[in-house]
Amino acid sequence: MLSLEQVRQGLESAGQSHVLQFWSELSEEERDSFLQELSQLDLDGLKDHCESPARSAASLPSKLDEHMEPVPPEFIGSVKKSDQSALEEWENEGLLKISENRVGVLLLAGGQGTRLGVQYPKGMYNVGLPSSKTLYQIQAERIRKIQELSDRKHGSKCTVPWYIMTSEFTLAPTEKFFKENNFFGLESSNIVMFEQRMIPAVDFDEKVILQGKGKIAMAPDGNGGLYQALVDNKVLEDMKKRGVEYLHVYCVDNILVKMADPVFIGFCVSKGADCGAKVVEKAYPTEPVGVVCRVRGVAQVVEYSEIQQKTAELRGPGGELVYRAGNICNHFFTRAFLQDVAEKFKGQLRQHVALKKVPFVDMCGNHVTPTQPNGIKMEKFVFDVFPFSRSFVVFEVLREDEFSPLKNADGAATDSPTTARNSLLAQHSRWATAAGATLLDEHGNPLPPTASVSAGDNQAARCEISPLVSYFGEGLEKLLKGRTLPSPFILDEKRAKELQAQ
Ligand code: UD1
Repeated sequence: MLSLEQVRQGLESAGQSHVLQFWSELSEEERDSFLQELSQLDLDGLKDHCESPARSAASLPSKLDEHMEPVPPEFIGSVKKSDQSALEEWENEGLLKISENRVGVLLLAGGQGTRLGVQYPKGMYNVGLPSSKTLYQIQAERIRKIQELSDRKHGSKCTVPWYIMTSEFTLAPTEKFFKENNFFGLESSNIVMFEQRMIPAVDFDEKVILQGKGKIAMAPDGNGGLYQALVDNKVLEDMKKRGVEYLHVYCVDNILVKMADPVFIGFCVSKGADCGAKVVEKAYPTEPVGVVCRVRGVAQVVEYSEIQQKTAELRGPGGELVYRAGNICNHFFTRAFLQDVAEKFKGQLRQHVALKKVPFVDMCGNHVTPTQPNGIKMEKFVFDVFPFSRSFVVFEVLREDEFSPLKNADGAATDSPTTARNSLLAQHSRWATAAGATLLDEHGNPLPPTASVSAGDNQAARCEISPLVSYFGEGLEKLLKGRTLPSPFILDEKRAKELQAQ
């Protein structure tokens, strides 16, 4: 720990002396913990950090749009446009790599979930499925199932390690939740949780914001903090030790996420890619998703907060959006590429400026909860490494099968607990119907097969299939063919055994 004098000097040379203005009012204990917090700050880089928002704002990508162009179609693989045999080939390749212990998954879970408005990590959220499963449980069970499918095909006993990036806000509750739930049936040694760095929020006068008299307002450094966190926590070494060569990185809130998706992995591997992104067709110009495109000829994502409206609204001759490759935050990386990023490129990642309402203490020591943005948080974005890729590919998947994120609280028109729940139930109803079952609605009336298709349709049967029974709709015919299913219907492992015995 640094001495008070060392900290005072460091702050002074960074132009941040105000940080200690309430020092004399702090108790002994408060002083200790504040000094500890300040000792962990990068005091040498603090001046630069406080000045960088202004610099980034000045170079803001208002000019990006002029240099944007869509990714040429030949670099985009597509579930819709590929024939069954190609999809199977990619899936087989992916399952093989999984069975050889060469695939890991990495969850980005350091965000604060401000839009959803809960005080706990988003992965712990229960969207109100008949089973009451949380996002974390669904993800864990999909890992278990994909291991089982790979083992069954290749006679292996494989592991897909689950790396989970958390932040100061989410680490302790996430760890506790996993322990309480017995790691959802996974080996605890195959779940590696680590923390990303936190950085100070800065006001519009380039001053660090005090959240309390003895506390700086800190925020996680964005999901692009991943690359520093991989180094800080020796995660790449862990991957190497386990023989993991391919990593599926994803964000926490997509209820339909295909964990370690063998089709995506197989596609990327067979194209020799070092880096890949899954996309869905963007639904409407202002949808809050980044677009995968090229800027000055180089693959990149332009985030929804940084694209100009007129660019987002551009349409092609058939009326389709020109920039329609919507980023669903599902990325493929080889370990070799991540190693390169860690060694050569992570210092070059752009800083993105986010204006936020940050509670603070004013000069007189009063606590203020601002109603207007007063602070700047600098964030790095996970996809900003794409330009360093030597072989980048895009894989387009179907929205109704793979993308339904939980971003907002109920009441919002999109991306809410209700829309996430309905997407999953609709998908599972489609699977059951395709397997030859007839679904009943809540009143016992048979539903026509198409009624279960729409994600927003409240009339849809409440049919939920555990990932432990089916990963992506496979293996259901032998259980469901010719059966009539009431609503709600939960197909878990126990029910599957009963059905099989009948
Ligand atoms: C993200 C993507 C956006 C994409 C959309 C799809 C980024 C920067 N943006 O936007 O292009 O279209 O998802 O749903 O990836 N996180 C951390 N640490 C942080 C901040 C966030 O781990 O410091 C994690 C979150 O926990 C979450 C993920 O990153 O799992 C995405 O963060 P979020 O802020 O929800 O991104 P969006 O703005 O929705």
